Amino acid sequence: MEISKLFSLENKTALVTGGSMGIGRATALAFADAGADVAIVSRKMENLAPVAEEIKAKGKRCLPVAAHVGRMDQLPAIVEQVVAEFGQIDILVNNAATSPAYATIFEAQEKLWDSIIGLNLKGLYFLSQAVARVMEEKGAGGSIINVSSIDGFAPQAQVGIYSISKAGVNMATRSMALELAPHKIRVNAIAPGATRTKLFEGLFAFLPEDEREKQIQQIGQAFPLGRVAVPDDMVGLMLYLASDASAYMTGQVVAVEGGVLLHGGL
Ligand SMILES: NC(=O)c1ccc[n+]([C@@H]2O[C@H](COP(=O)([O-])OP(=O)(O)OC[C@H]3O[C@@H](n4cnc5c(N)ncnc54)[C@H](OP(=O)(O)O)[C@@H]3O)[C@@H](O)[C@H]2O)c1
Repeated sequence: MEISKLFSLENKTALVTGGSMGIGRATALAFADAGADVAIVSRKMENLAPVAEEIKAKGKRCLPVAAHVGRMDQLPAIVEQVVAEFGQIDILVNNAATSPAYATIFEAQEKLWDSIIGLNLKGLYFLSQAVARVMEEKGAGGSIINVSSIDGFAPQAQVGIYSISKAGVNMATRSMALELAPHKIRVNAIAPGATRTKLFEGLFAFLPEDEREKQIQQIGQAFPLGRVAVPDDMVGLMLYLASDASAYMTGQVVAVEGGVLLHGGL
């Protein structure tokens, strides 16, 4: 076995949702570094365009697709555009997710439930279905990577619906892995802990900047490894799960969380 080729994504095409920033952007760039052509999806083309330029600067092809992954009627067009451009999809990263507001069970509205579950779980499931059909038709197998969260293991107060959605992502991962294994499509998940992205920092938006920084440093102290993550902390596992290095692994949810689950979460 040539170890240098184990993590290579040469001649592969990846589709990364939420690829315009945060963990999705870091993943898309890492996949391009490993040799893949990459399609990135988010709602706003103005956020996708600079990432597409970064990927092209690495000598790889990039297709930015503006779409809402929580709207089922928009999913077929995403897949059609990627197949039209690249002819195949080898890797899908279901990374786009939302947690737009704090709400306890006494406060939560149906609209909040629908937006969180609609994107984080329903969108993930039906985009996987559409991509799995393409992979199955090509007959070359594939890798689907779902982005879960430590909240899927240990719920956080006031983001209950998000935690429920991520617990659902964990079971979707196992369910899809079982049904897709005969087609050589592997399905695994990465469960990040607190990671410095727009989604995470938005939780502290009400604080002045120096207070926000202090609070984030303080949260970092709750992690055995002494800090919260940055998006690049996720790319090693992403690359492992996307590549042949994990060829015999499916149905697993792997936490990348600085050890915080060792004492039960945040
Ligand atoms: N950051 C953390 O602490 C943390 C911890 C655990 C798990 N995670 C998970 O990691 C993943 C990435 O989160 P992140 O922190 O990197 O978030 P982020 O920096 O806020 O990025 C979210 C991405 O998703 C896109 N997006 C949002 N709603 C969308 C929609 N309806 N349709 C298509 N794209 C949409 C955003 O672009 P547009 O706004 O342009 O659509 C953006 O590209 C999520 O699954 C999240 O749950 C994050």
